[in-house]
Amino acid sequence: SIDISAFTKKTGYTTLDYGFVNTAATKSTITYIDGDAGILRYRGYPIEQLAGSSSYLEVAWLLIYGELPTADQLGEFDERIRRHTLLHEDLKRFFSALPHTAHPMAVISSALSALSTYYENSDDPKDPEQVELTTIRLLAKLPVIAAYAHKKSLGQAFLYPDNSLSFVDNYLKLNFGNLAEPYEIDPVLSGALERLLILHADHEQNASTSTVRLVGSTGANLYASISAGINALSGPLHGGANEAVLDMLGKIRDSGEGVARFVERVKNKEDGVKLMGFGHRVYKNYDPRAKIVKESADSVLEHLGVQDPLLDLAKELEQIALEDDYFKERRLYPNVDFYTGVIYKAMGFPTRMFTVLFAIGRLPGWIAHWREMNLDPQSKIGRPQQLYVGPAEREFPQR
Ligand code: ACO
Repeated sequence: SIDISAFTKKTGYTTLDYGFVNTAATKSTITYIDGDAGILRYRGYPIEQLAGSSSYLEVAWLLIYGELPTADQLGEFDERIRRHTLLHEDLKRFFSALPHTAHPMAVISSALSALSTYYENSDDPKDPEQVELTTIRLLAKLPVIAAYAHKKSLGQAFLYPDNSLSFVDNYLKLNFGNLAEPYEIDPVLSGALERLLILHADHEQNASTSTVRLVGSTGANLYASISAGINALSGPLHGGANEAVLDMLGKIRDSGEGVARFVERVKNKEDGVKLMGFGHRVYKNYDPRAKIVKESADSVLEHLGVQDPLLDLAKELEQIALEDDYFKERRLYPNVDFYTGVIYKAMGFPTRMFTVLFAIGRLPGWIAHWREMNLDPQSKIGRPQQLYVGPAEREFPQR
């Protein structure tokens, strides 16, 4: 039995809620999810409409400022972001200190912490103008840092940003372009990446966003908070799932065991094996983002002329799982990560870059939550309780 009198004295009641399944830590006006109905809205706008006709920067503005921007506001926002894409030349040397085998998620999170050292006099979380500037800097520089993490892993030269290009095209050029030949923009590819970034832009109080809020609640600046969010995102149960899905599909293909046998192993929980890209804490119905991604996967692969047997394998796996009682009873459906990896792979991204793309997409949401929390007069430092179940007081032995 646990003596909880110490808690009842301090707080009335304490709820033991592993994984915060039923505990709200904040109010928010940013994103609405109805997990049973498969609904996702940013600031009231359905994800299907935003993914179909908006741009990443427009969605970033919407999430951060609460309303859709006017054409002038969007133009100015875009212009400011383009002006801030350059990294300090010294920061480039940071990448040389890391092994080329470094996981790009570790590279980008540490690069963001390092970035903060260049702006120590303009990162005050309480100064609205400085928060504004940091918002622009982060949006402008994270894609550049991400592209350099990729180039570093290949041993290729870093390119300077081309600020005549749109946000997405600039990123694609930095990532895939080289110094020897001109980079050709593929509008289908850019459109598909733009849509994927929008789909990832926010998802209320998931593990990484909650991390950003928790770190920010201590008064830490945006750089430190976002860097922590990136680390939270890297885990395979969260953003790292897109990488884990491709690894899983590759293993199924290479082992030759067949999809049905793999699903049996998942159901029997053999070696803790899970169907990666399936299941969600909130969605107990088809993840609305997964529907859009699945539709994109076919058209992107067709456009690129890529025939990927892993896409067929993913579809077969989905079909078998959706008809199986184990998955039906537990209401496990594909989540956003199930098909994204197949598209990223077809675009030419290595598996280890997949979660980095998620991070670029999620950045506006993290920033919006950090800012919302800082403007909320009811916000407090985050400090969960625990139920102590260790030993009662005892004497340290006499020596
Ligand atoms: N494969 C097989 N079984 C699963 C899966 C899965 N992917 N997900 C959940 N289950 C089972 C659990 O084993 C459990 O079964 P039990 O009742 O027999 O013990 C039951 O379904 C409930 O699962 P929980 O772990 O309690 O669900 P929770 O809400 O805590 O976890 C999570 C959600 C972490 C996403 C889980 O479904 C999972 O691990 N999925 C695979 C990883 C993944 O795709 N993560 C990405 C999530 S989306 C995102 O972060 C962007």
